[in-house]
Amino acid sequence: MRVLVVGGGGREHALVHAFCASPLATQVFCAPGNAGIEQEADPVAIAADDLAGLLAFARREKIDLTVVGPEAPLVAGIADLFTENGLLVFGPRRAAARLEGSKAFAKEIMDEARVATGRYTRHGDLAGALADLETRESFPLVVKADGLAAGKGVLICQDAGEARAAVRLCLADRAFGEAGGTVLIEEFLSGPEVSLLALCDGTRVVPMAPAQDYKRIFALDLGPNTGGMGSYCPVPGFDAGVAETVADDLFRPVLAALARRGTEYRGVLYGGLIVTEHGVKLLEFNCRFGDPETQAILPRLDSDLLEACLATAHGELDTVDLRWKPEACVSVVVASRGYPASTSKGDVISGLSEAAVLPDVTVYHAATAVHGHDIVTAGGRVLAVSALGTHFAAARERAYGALARISFAGMQSRPDIADRAVRAEAGETSLFPVDWAD
Ligand SMILES: Nc1ncnc2c1ncn2[C@@H]1O[C@H](COP(=O)(O)OP(=O)(O)O)[C@@H](O)[C@H]1O
Ligand SMILES: [Mg+2]
Repeated sequence: MRVLVVGGGGREHALVHAFCASPLATQVFCAPGNAGIEQEADPVAIAADDLAGLLAFARREKIDLTVVGPEAPLVAGIADLFTENGLLVFGPRRAAARLEGSKAFAKEIMDEARVATGRYTRHGDLAGALADLETRESFPLVVKADGLAAGKGVLICQDAGEARAAVRLCLADRAFGEAGGTVLIEEFLSGPEVSLLALCDGTRVVPMAPAQDYKRIFALDLGPNTGGMGSYCPVPGFDAGVAETVADDLFRPVLAALARRGTEYRGVLYGGLIVTEHGVKLLEFNCRFGDPETQAILPRLDSDLLEACLATAHGELDTVDLRWKPEACVSVVVASRGYPASTSKGDVISGLSEAAVLPDVTVYHAATAVHGHDIVTAGGRVLAVSALGTHFAAARERAYGALARISFAGMQSRPDIADRAVRAEAGETSLFPVDWAD
């Protein structure tokens, strides 16, 4: 099979790495890729949002399967375009990708499917949103921009003043452009979050191993939000049985509700879950593999990812049974100076091969580029260093040991990735509230 991966971040490197290991793959391309991806796959100088360019390439190169990493091309309809042109694609069509592309649409479907999620109201005009806030007595509450806002469109508001400022920011100042033309005012839920990704072929749902990610830039979850500073997989206390229950209670009803509207969801569905005292609820859906969760999930996969993606795209998930290694995986993201406020570029990265030769370590590239004989930084999140270990403590030690071999000017990483998994595994604490699964 000739495979094309669309995207050029750490997630896409993890996908490329898994596809290259498949006996089904004869050639793997990646558009646009990065400096690490091009050591394993053929780079294609086409941007991930250049749908026409990607289509022309896939036709010319007779690509058998295109796997789309990021959400933007999916929401823009890349799966529709490829399917209409007789090309097989892994990823939902535009109508199904709206689960991520519009938080208001996702809430509508969740309500229709009667799945557990926070209560909300939606507003397209400032006066209505402000009038709604006048009636609110309990805080915090959450104001969300409807559309894609690169992880910046969710504002947790501690009081009425903050909430008014948040709806003004979206609806009046258009701080998130058209993405903030509609806002949701949502009930604040509290509890630990879990990312559960599942392969979906329209009717069937095959959950992957659960993961947790770290969004804040600094240790102890301080500082501003980022695209994600690390992740681990699996999640102690959230076993395969719980994942199956979530698939039954939250994912399958949503697929059925979409199907009643004539929309089939095919691809990977990422449920952003929150485990409250009253059980697992949905915070949001994403229509693609998570970044950085994928960099902690895939090293544990003991099945052929390409075969599974192919079966998903063909609507034949009944043939797929995902197997997982017993080891734990910890993935630490390395970011460039100034991230997330700004990003620096062009700093020479050393120690990459010294890190990658360590056993059970994979260094996934994100924003990297080749410059002469060097590999240099090319944006905010530069690398994800993933390591497997028999326990979280061992995986964490390996990941940080590998990271210690890598350096570049201004490099940042969190020192506490997977600490809570290590403590939970040792039985010192539980990640979840008491009795949440009842
Ligand atoms: N209803 C909510 N209650 C508490 N926290 C929330 C709520 N909705 C979102 N959050 C927090 O904000 C983060 C981002 O929200 P999410 O809906 O996942 O949007 P996005 O990932 O598109 O920015 C979540 O991971 C969670 O930490
Ligand atoms: Mg999210």
